[in-house]
Formats: sequence, structure tokens, C-alpha cells
Amino acid sequence: MKVIAFVGSPRRNGNCANLVSAILEGVEGSGAEIKIHFLGAKNIKGCTGCYHCEKANECIITDDDMQEIYADMESSDAYVFASPVYFDHVTAQFKLFVDRIFPYYHAKPFKGRKAVFALTYEEDNDEIYGEVVDWFTGMIDACHGIKVVDSLKVHGVVKQPVKDNPALLSRAEDIGRALVQP
Ligand SMILES: Cc1cc2nc3c(=O)[nH]c(=O)nc-3n(C[C@H](O)[C@H](O)[C@H](O)COP(=O)(O)O)c2cc1C
Repeated sequence: MKVIAFVGSPRRNGNCANLVSAILEGVEGSGAEIKIHFLGAKNIKGCTGCYHCEKANECIITDDDMQEIYADMESSDAYVFASPVYFDHVTAQFKLFVDRIFPYYHAKPFKGRKAVFALTYEEDNDEIYGEVVDWFTGMIDACHGIKVVDSLKVHGVVKQPVKDNPALLSRAEDIGRALVQP
């Protein structure tokens, strides 16, 4: 069993990173192999909109860090996706990644695989940004057949950073444990 995490924040020790670490602690308890991609540190070129992938099932861009990401996505059994909210949506780094997995859209090789999605934001209001979680959950299922089995929408992370929220970290670990249950 291999689980791969994608962190859409450029901050390696930020809220998303801490949340993902806790989720992966839960995953690791089962003996699963884990790996994290910090998307902010990657060279990911933007989709050119050429539609080459529609015919070829592979991207025409071959000289960036998506090559390693494609290989890891293919060899993983489950996924952890996380992004902060930047101006009411996921970060640009995270969206670049989403656009570049278009080559899998038709063949749907990840169909039936499970995932969790985590979204963090500053506004101290837990009633907003549900539409961002719904967008990701719906898109990744409709376009790639990946089922988001649980999600975390964490508000007020400047007032109370994730690392100072033991109840949340414990919940994140539980979510990680559940992700790798058969
Ligand atoms: C460019 C930028 C835009 C942001 N936009 C929003 C926003 O629209 N709403 C919000 O609640 N927080 C916003 N934030 C705050 C981040 O969502 C918050 O600090 C985030 O959880 C940081 O995650 P990280 O610690 O993993 O980097 C923004 C932060 C930055 C840097």
C-alpha cells in the first residue's frame, strides 16, 4: 500500500503541511509507504490547452517535475490532497497540478482509489469555502474516479494554527488511519 500526499502550500511547515503530516502519521501506522510532494517547490508548467493528451493519454510537456508526480500517482493506492485558500480558491500551484492530470481523464486509471482533501484558511468562519471542498470532491470523482472519503475544512488558522490544535491533529490522524482501511 502506498499513499501519496500533495501539499498546495509553498510553506513546508505551514498549516497544510502540519495537517498532512498528522494524516500521514495515521496512514503510517498501517505500515503503508508514504511520500509528500510540496507542489510549491516543484517546477510545474501550465497546461498548454493543446489537447494532445486527449489522443495520446500523455502530456506533451515532458521537461518538468510532473514526470515524477505522474509516476507516483500511478503507483499509489490512495491520495492526500491539501491546499490553503488563496483568494477564495485553492492555490495557483495546486491548480497547475490539477490541470496537468488531464492526461488521465479519459482512461481513468485511478478509478475507485480513495483520497482525503484538506483545505485551510484564515477567515474565522467555518461556514465559508464549502464550495471549494465541493468543487474538488466533485471534480476529482467526475474527472478521475477518485473518491474523497473524508475532508477537513479548517478555518481561523492564523488565530489558531493547526500545530496548536491537538483535537484537530488527532482527528487528522484518525482520517489517515481510515483512509488505509480495506
Ligand atoms: C495570497 C494569499 C491569499 C489568501 N487568501 C485568503 C482568502 O481568500 N481567504 C482566507 O480565509 N485566507 C486567505 N489566505 C490565508 C491562508 O489561506 C492561510 O494563511 C492558509 O491556511 C495558509 O496555509 P499554509 O500555512 O499551509 O501556507 C491567503 C493567504 C495568502 C498568502
